[in-house]
Amino acid sequence: MSNLTETEYLLEVENLLVEFAGPSQGIFGKKGEPVRAVDDVTFQIKKGEALGLVGESGSGKTTLGRAILRLQEPNSGHVRMVEEGDVKDILKLDQKELRQCWQNMQMIFQDPYASLNPRMTVLDIISEPLIVNGLVKNEAEAKEVAVKIAGSCGLVPDQLSRFPHAFSGGQRQRIAIARALVMQPRFIVCDEPVSALDVSIQAQILNLLIDQQKEMDLTFLFISHDLTVVAYLCNRIAVMYLGNIVEIAPTKDLFAQPLHPYTEVLMSAIPSDDPDQELNIALLKGELVGSGRNLSGCPFAPRCNYSDGKKCVNEKPKLVDIDGQRQVACHFSDTLSLATVEGI
Ligand SMILES: Nc1ncnc2c1ncn2[C@@H]1O[C@H](COP(=O)(O)OP(=O)(O)O)[C@@H](O)[C@H]1O
Ligand SMILES: [Mg+2]
Repeated sequence: MSNLTETEYLLEVENLLVEFAGPSQGIFGKKGEPVRAVDDVTFQIKKGEALGLVGESGSGKTTLGRAILRLQEPNSGHVRMVEEGDVKDILKLDQKELRQCWQNMQMIFQDPYASLNPRMTVLDIISEPLIVNGLVKNEAEAKEVAVKIAGSCGLVPDQLSRFPHAFSGGQRQRIAIARALVMQPRFIVCDEPVSALDVSIQAQILNLLIDQQKEMDLTFLFISHDLTVVAYLCNRIAVMYLGNIVEIAPTKDLFAQPLHPYTEVLMSAIPSDDPDQELNIALLKGELVGSGRNLSGCPFAPRCNYSDGKKCVNEKPKLVDIDGQRQVACHFSDTLSLATVEGI
């Protein structure tokens, strides 16, 4: 069932499932259990919103982002996008239609250097998508548009004839952002775009993204393992654990009162301004295990401080609506009173 007819939505992900073949057991061994990196995920993104996606490393954030754009082919599910009043199921498009759709959907990665061709000048890197997609009459027009976008991303004309290696990490991310924006997309998946940058540079890049979002009416899926980075930029936050979305809420509500024990743990790991307070990640028991896990119970049960050892282990909680704004997947969320963080 699609909710997209309500015009406030741009994108809908429904029952999305992505599995990877598990690691082989020795050279002659059988393939291991498949890893379910994205496990039956459903959510919507509103037009013009920045939806944050948080969770520790290995929880499936990158795979989900890539699967939405079909850079990773999902096993099943739907990804629907509204385009000029039409609803398109991205997973049903042929290669030509998909290429056209990518003009509207872009992805920005953690490591800008890996995504920039080292043998091209910055101007060529930014103008190339326009030429490849036939969006301009000629090269001169492509360069004109590219210079303008580069300027709005804080790159001065002098820098545009240089090659990527001449730039710092933050400036390379500006180049990658300009290259994504030059297509005038409507939706961008930002995958840990500031995680490799110095803290002092992170705010500059986040502010650039916020400015461009307003300017170009962009919709973001913003992926980060860092809850504070996501809180800075996003209206709503989805919390992911082992391929599952366990909680979605407006940012201020999530911080005021987390409803899922895993969200509480993520919040307890936020470093406090108080230097005497140690990072409190001791709350979390055990390790994130991707394969061979019990798919019928709650994925977080083995590490959860509140697990009852029965229902939590045997029955997987569904993501249920709480008040029309937030959803949580925990059997006991209404009886728990979880800790919050102040000052965010
Ligand atoms: N190409 C791949 N082949 C096999 N397993 C993969 C591949 N990409 C990701 N995985 C596995 O899928 C899970 C989710 O990974 P990922 O989406 O990168 O998580 P995150 O971005 O949250 O760190 C992990 O268990 C990871 O090992
Ligand atoms: Mg990742």
